[in-house]
Amino acid sequence: MTPISGKTKLFATLGHPVTHVLTPQKLNTLFAKRHYDGVMVPVGIAPGQDLATFAASIRVMQNFGGAVVTVPHKTAIVSLCDRLSHRAEAAGAVNVLRREADSSLTGDLLDGVGFVNGLKNAGEVIKDRRIFLAGAGGAALAIAFALAEADAAHITITNRSQDKLDDLTTRLKKSFPDLSISQNGNPDKHDIVINATSLGLRENDPLPVDPAHLHPPMLVAEVVMVPEQTPLLKAASQAGCRTHSGRHMLAGQLSAIFDFLTAE
Ligand SMILES: NC(=O)c1ccc[n+]([C@@H]2O[C@H](COP(=O)([O-])OP(=O)(O)OC[C@H]3O[C@@H](n4cnc5c(N)ncnc54)[C@H](OP(=O)(O)O)[C@@H]3O)[C@@H](O)[C@H]2O)c1
Repeated sequence: MTPISGKTKLFATLGHPVTHVLTPQKLNTLFAKRHYDGVMVPVGIAPGQDLATFAASIRVMQNFGGAVVTVPHKTAIVSLCDRLSHRAEAAGAVNVLRREADSSLTGDLLDGVGFVNGLKNAGEVIKDRRIFLAGAGGAALAIAFALAEADAAHITITNRSQDKLDDLTTRLKKSFPDLSISQNGNPDKHDIVINATSLGLRENDPLPVDPAHLHPPMLVAEVVMVPEQTPLLKAASQAGCRTHSGRHMLAGQLSAIFDFLTAE
């Protein structure tokens, strides 16, 4: 790692809580590998006014490069950005934020791209596949957009809260009018089953999908990174399905995050 100096650019991984984050470690390794003079640290910020205060603060920090934005700030940060990529605007969520030289803030949404890259890097095909997606939060939304961009044949989405499910379905239909989408149901007759909820993070969480509907040759994929073998992935393995852990998603988007954050 380049020693920290007055020229070092500062980056943050922003969340609440931040104790479980893995992005700073991975990005700092990538900074070193690419001889980039930057350092990323976890920054715990409570939702609400504190998030607005954070955004105002980084505008006046001249050596601040940008941030990776994680739970629960991905939608709230949108209105604090000056410009958004098309996908961030369409999805109404941001997971990377860059401070420009004129102190303005640009947001993009890369975790769906990372998830799709992770599947492709593991040799999986998305084009023409039927996907069952559990969740309608920030990660699910980003993944749904990226799956649509990768030409999935059909996406079934399920979520605990119907209003968020409706919102995601509406946004997706607006951006991809020809995409086949349905709500609820179960994973039967799907090729890829994805947990994009936060269920699995805590020990006593219920499973995000009923394991009775998991069977080969389905691929069962996770967004949850810790633990790596979530209860869902264990149940999928027991049912004879192939599995794909949440770590692939982060690995798949590291390079895209680096390029975004360090762009001049
Ligand atoms: N691997 C990676 O690189 C990566 C990247 C991004 C995120 N993630 C992980 O993805 C997960 C979700 O993040 P997010 O940004 O989408 O969070 P979020 O916006 O807060 O969404 C959480 C989702 O989980 C659902 N959920 C939470 N508790 C639930 C419960 N008890 N029962 C049923 N559903 C429940 C929510 O349903 P409701 O809508 O009903 O609340 C919502 O669909 C987190 O674990 C995060 O760490 C991983």
